[in-house]
Amino acid sequence: MIVTTKKLFEAAYGKYAIGAYNINNLEQTMGLFQGNLDSQAPFIVQLSRGARSYTDSAMLEAMIRGADEVFPEAIFAVHLDHGDEKTAMDCINSGFYSSVMIDASHAPFDENIAITKRVVDAAHAKGIVVEAELGKLGGVEEDISVDESDAKLTNPDEAKEFVERTGCDSLACAIGTSHGAFKFTGTQGLRFDVLADIQERLPNYPLVMHGSSSVPQDEVARINAAGGELKGAKGVDADQFKRAAELGVAKINIDTDGRLVWMRVHREHFKENPEIFDLRPSGKVFMAEYAKYIVGKNEKLGSAGQLEAVRKFLG
Ligand code: G3H
Ligand code: 13P
Ligand code: ZN
Repeated sequence: MIVTTKKLFEAAYGKYAIGAYNINNLEQTMGLFQGNLDSQAPFIVQLSRGARSYTDSAMLEAMIRGADEVFPEAIFAVHLDHGDEKTAMDCINSGFYSSVMIDASHAPFDENIAITKRVVDAAHAKGIVVEAELGKLGGVEEDISVDESDAKLTNPDEAKEFVERTGCDSLACAIGTSHGAFKFTGTQGLRFDVLADIQERLPNYPLVMHGSSSVPQDEVARINAAGGELKGAKGVDADQFKRAAELGVAKINIDTDGRLVWMRVHREHFKENPEIFDLRPSGKVFMAEYAKYIVGKNEKLGSAGQLEAVRKFLG
């Protein structure tokens, strides 16, 4: 069942965070739904602009509709990740997305507000909710590369003004994370002090943490042992998710860790089975491993076991 992120956040706020997972293909879709049902968790399926154009957005949307039929118990939101204004409007008008992100965080404050407000007005007219972003994460996202030194943490006073002026339903804040597999190259860590200041100014308001992959070191070691070259990759300590949830983070975005599962499974599979030319055996292993990975993440997020409570909450 597709619901809005707003409903999921109302159920989760202050207690746990909803996992927002990016998908690009059929095997990820199957593993994602299976893993969330195995751990009885509500979740968010998110599609980036890159994912929408990898094959065709219609293919991806059809796979999600199919998964909704194959897994009728699932409760999830369908969300556009890091949309620009045009893509956000396309998704709002498509009638399929229950939630969109407009990411104009690269623009100056007033321009970010103006762009976000246009998207919020169009979305709310159709019952769709909007995530916006203020502050700059480090790392690479879509086609924009932000140097670590240019990453700008969210200003708590600006966050309050931004939400009041735009009417956005949730806010992605920069609190020290970055996208990709190489986070915290210096002495950085999660800035719970900044998060607490934002929550104080925006009580009961859902915040979003991007760039939250943990880049598990055992995964990196296995990838490298099987021919990969991910030297110095590191991520966010997943044991910090629950503290973030208490401070108002209701959605935690994870993509890179899922890519690492894909990389590990396929590198090991082809190394160990050089004679196999059927694509299904590795696909089967990947779907099972991806489901296991989702179960593990939901434990850390606190969303595991919440499905029935959310179903009751939705009425
Ligand atoms: O924040 C970016 C997400 O990891 C999506 O990545 O734009 O390469 O699909 P992508
Ligand atoms: P990671 O690169 O840390 O997985 O972050 C994903 C993300 O923020 C998607 O919007
Ligand atoms: Zn992101």
